[in-house]
Amino acid sequence: MINSIVQGDCIQQLRKIEETSVDLIYLDPPFFSDKKYTLKSREQAQCFSFNDRWGCVQGYADFMQARLALMKPLLKKTGSIFVHCDKNAQHILRSILDNLFGREQFRAEIIWHYKRWSNAQTGLLASHQNIYFYSKSDQYKFNTLYTGYSETTNIDQLLYKRTRDKFNKSVYCRNDEGLSELGKAKKGVPLSDVWDIPTLNPKAKERVGYPTQKPLSLLERIIELSTDEGDLVLDPFCGSGTTCVAAHLNGRRYIGIDESVAAVSLARGRLDQPIKSESKVLKQGRGAFPKADQQALNLLQGVAYHAVTRNKGIDAILAEPYQNTPVLVRVQKPKEPLCEAATRLTNAMLKKGSLKAFLIQTEVDIGLDAQFKLSPGITVLSTPAVSIANALKPVVGD
Ligand SMILES: C[S@@+](CC[C@H](N)C(=O)[O-])C[C@H]1O[C@@H](n2cnc3c(N)ncnc32)[C@H](O)[C@@H]1O
Repeated sequence: MINSIVQGDCIQQLRKIEETSVDLIYLDPPFFSDKKYTLKSREQAQCFSFNDRWGCVQGYADFMQARLALMKPLLKKTGSIFVHCDKNAQHILRSILDNLFGREQFRAEIIWHYKRWSNAQTGLLASHQNIYFYSKSDQYKFNTLYTGYSETTNIDQLLYKRTRDKFNKSVYCRNDEGLSELGKAKKGVPLSDVWDIPTLNPKAKERVGYPTQKPLSLLERIIELSTDEGDLVLDPFCGSGTTCVAAHLNGRRYIGIDESVAAVSLARGRLDQPIKSESKVLKQGRGAFPKADQQALNLLQGVAYHAVTRNKGIDAILAEPYQNTPVLVRVQKPKEPLCEAATRLTNAMLKKGSLKAFLIQTEVDIGLDAQFKLSPGITVLSTPAVSIANALKPVVGD
């Protein structure tokens, strides 16, 4: 079974795995969401689905209890289990896990947080899921991961050695000359239990079209925290095989189980040709994304708008549409010919189906050529600097 994806209900398949042989179990079971999930593969060639409708809480709780009970004996003494869920079933699973593993083996509730852009909902937008981490015993394997310090951390705290004074107050160590003593290089801050990892965007290379597919980076982090190379990772509800692909890419052995024939075939295919998308947010942080042109937006004070980034034709879209179409704003950049800005804005209008747009002229001497034909929906506005310069221009013949 090692390094394979097995088809079947995990209640049967788990019985075939050797006891105390597994280092990590990760499961992303049905969430008790009362939905049927259906999605098409990237080329629309295949439709994947699984059912998460239960009728009653007890039915779901019994289903999970029976399977989780079979998982525990499979873990080594040093092993851990990570159970993925969300607000629908977290209370049910937490209570089952407390009973099975013991409250003292509860290690963490990881909050997987991601950004979402939906505005089609009243109330608070759900943008996190929960992952319960329990260990088999106190001797569980754990590799501490470190993250960077926050921008607001005082640099002295990172550089200098600290000690306690006679009032037990933390102070910097001083040498004979009264100067602060340098401390050992610090590794960073141990990873917290809130993980900011983006969900797979619709165009992500690793997206295979399986409903509720999790990002490889999430699984890689769990694997890195709780296993070493060569260790065995088990996912009894493996879906498209994300856990197994992450294990394989990181030199771990794996077993994946899923009752869906289509999921098993998809997961096997993924393992033959693993693809991982690189997340720029994860690699370089959210700050790596181009920021809105703040100077340009300062010109819109008093106007309700949404700032636009990564678009050469638009700096902002007004909060209020015009005849059900977005109203675009483009600010002329330093030294940019106004005709060029107008052409970019016109292209953006065509793409967005806009009927109205505003072009703000900021450069005194770079206006529109007389022969340039401005699109009818565009109104050119001038900054006060441009208006004043134009007003003070000597009139020919004066
Ligand atoms: C939430 S999805 C897992 C998605 C997966 N983590 C991924 O990244 O693709 C849950 C999976 O559990 C499977 N499943 C549901 N009941 C099962 C059972 N009794 N035994 C094995 N698999 C089951 C479904 O077919 C589905 O693929």
